[in-house]
Amino acid sequence: MAWRGVIEEYRQWLPVDAGTPVVTLGEGGTPLLPAPRLSARTGCEVYVKVEGMNPTGSFKDRGMTTAISLAKQAGAEAVVCASTGNTSSSAAAYATRAGLRPVVLVPAGKIALGKLAQALAHGATQLPVEGNFDDCLRLARELAEKFPVALVNSVNPVRLQGQKTAAFEVVDVLGDAPDIHALPVGNAGNISAYWLGYQEYAKEGPASRTPRMFGFQAAGAAPLVLGAPVEHPDTIASAIRIGNPASWDLAVAARQASAGVIEAVTDEEILVAHRILSAEEGVFVEPASAAGVAGVLKLAREGRLETGLRIAITVTGHGLKDPDWAVKAAPPLPDPVAADVLAVAEALSFG
Ligand code: F0G
Repeated sequence: MAWRGVIEEYRQWLPVDAGTPVVTLGEGGTPLLPAPRLSARTGCEVYVKVEGMNPTGSFKDRGMTTAISLAKQAGAEAVVCASTGNTSSSAAAYATRAGLRPVVLVPAGKIALGKLAQALAHGATQLPVEGNFDDCLRLARELAEKFPVALVNSVNPVRLQGQKTAAFEVVDVLGDAPDIHALPVGNAGNISAYWLGYQEYAKEGPASRTPRMFGFQAAGAAPLVLGAPVEHPDTIASAIRIGNPASWDLAVAARQASAGVIEAVTDEEILVAHRILSAEEGVFVEPASAAGVAGVLKLAREGRLETGLRIAITVTGHGLKDPDWAVKAAPPLPDPVAADVLAVAEALSFG
């Protein structure tokens, strides 16, 4: 049977009932790709969960199908979110699909073009705010308190419910939980959702155990590592440029209960991982998405990773959302050549 989206595939695990109008774009069912080059570099058995293959190009779609379906069921007519770009793209697509009005608040001038375009294409009212993501989230929460509009950020627990299905999929493919699950951390919803999913599948599902959760923040936006909010978060990984994560306590609890880590990676380490993913593994992601890979490579390099472990790393969003960094990292394009086979062959140093 064709993949039906995460609500139908995992209905028994989700807070939906027979009356829930299922709003889906076919999200989930993303590849868990063996990563031979990353495995060779780390001495571990590494897989990447390619969440850029979701309908709007990021893992946000898993939580948005549940959030929008339940908002629709509750009679909402409009939804609001704050976003660094991916949540807004996803909210815009799913709200439009459901016939609801999407309103998104984004930090002015800080959203990658692909994401800005998506929210516009899906008909969202996209309001740039003179502030950072944390300001946008505060405003979105206040709007949802004072006006008849449903909040679809991950502070809405239904979002985490949908996102936990990614952990189910990893277990369904591997046959059990991996030793380690690594991923980028921004607002800290996703690490919390994975931990929820792994715990549920170990308690009542096919898994015999849970993995250690390894979260990685960008060094300039690493409040969970510092143990205090960062007032002016700064990183090239715009998706995780967040100074005061909403799911702070859940993420810290996941780290503690799983004997995991939450550490920082520099922008340089993120860009190196980004390049390795695209140029060696054939997986094109946006920079923030490479933070989990950067973190695992760093631990391996520092001799802090036991070899032989089975590691799943979530790469969270598609490279086409923010292609600038790929162009910057590559050698410049050669000058144009004449439309002549000899000229082309010469330019390619053939023959
Ligand atoms: N990777 C990408 C590509 C993201 O867009 C985000 C978050 C994360 C990782 C971090 O996930 O917040 O659950 O810890 N993006 C949000 C947004 C903030 O607005 O799109 P998290």
